Amino acid sequence: MIIKDTLDYIDIFTDSFTPEIGLILGSGLGEIADEYAIHTIPYSKIPGFTKSTVPGHKGNLVFGEIHNKKVVMMQGRNHYYEGHTMQEITYPVKVMKKLGVKNVIITNAAGAVNKSYRPGDFMIITDHINFMGVNPLAGKNDDSLGERFPDMSEIYDKNLIKRADTASHMLGINLKHGVYLAASGPTYETPAEVKMFRYMGADAVGMSTVPEATVAHYCGMRVLGISCISNFASGISSNKLSHEDVIEITEKVKPQFKELLLLIIKSL
Ligand code: HPA
Repeated sequence: MIIKDTLDYIDIFTDSFTPEIGLILGSGLGEIADEYAIHTIPYSKIPGFTKSTVPGHKGNLVFGEIHNKKVVMMQGRNHYYEGHTMQEITYPVKVMKKLGVKNVIITNAAGAVNKSYRPGDFMIITDHINFMGVNPLAGKNDDSLGERFPDMSEIYDKNLIKRADTASHMLGINLKHGVYLAASGPTYETPAEVKMFRYMGADAVGMSTVPEATVAHYCGMRVLGISCISNFASGISSNKLSHEDVIEITEKVKPQFKELLLLIIKSL
C-alpha cells in the first residue's frame, strides 16, 4: 500500500481537513469520538487500513474539532493478537504524521501490576517495556518518516505529561505515573508473569499502545499515553479476568476520562 492512496482518499472524504492532534481511543473509550465528529470514515473503506475485530472497538477514523483544535480520532484500534502485523497496526499512526499531526494521545485499558493501583485509576505512561516479542519498525526503513535506529530515551513527552498533570489537578483526579508493559496477548497473563513484570519495573500491563507510541515517536510526533486501569492484573486478586469486566470499568470511568482528555486537548 502506498500511503499516498490513503491520503488521497482521506483528503477527498474530509475536504482537506488538516488535524494537529491525533487521538487513539482504546477499549470502551471510543464513543468520545462520536460527539465531536465532523467526518467519520470506517477503516474498512480506507485504502491501507485494517478492520478491528474486537467487541468494544468500533473501527472508524473520525475527524472533528475539540476546543477549536482539529483532531483525528481512531475509534478503536487493531491489535497484534488479532493476527494483524505490526505494520498494519501502526499504519494509521504514519498516516496521522502525514496528515500533519503534531501531538498524539494514546489511550488504553490496562491491568494493574502495581499493587497500590485500583480499578478506575488513570495512569500516565512515563515509559514502556516492549514485551511483545516484535518491534513495529523491523523491516525496511522509510527515511521520509524517521531514522533507522531511533532513540527511545524519552518516548512520552515530558511537556505533555505536565499538561496532563495540571488537567488532572484541576479535575481532582489522582493521576498515577507509571511504566506500561505490552504483552502480545490474547491471553491475559499468568500470576507468575505478572510477578515477573513487577520485578521488571512495570506498573501496568496491556496488549496495545507500545507499537503506536514507538512509531509515533519515531515519526517525530509528541506522544502522551494514558491507561485506564480496568482490573488488577492476574494473581493480585482472586477474581478471574474477563473482557466484559474490563469494558464495565472503562464504561464507568468514561465520563471522567473524557473530561480529562478534553482538558488536556484544551491546553495544547
Ligand atoms: N492484562 C493485559 N491486558 C489488559 C489487562 C490485563 O490485565 N486489562 C486490560 N487489558
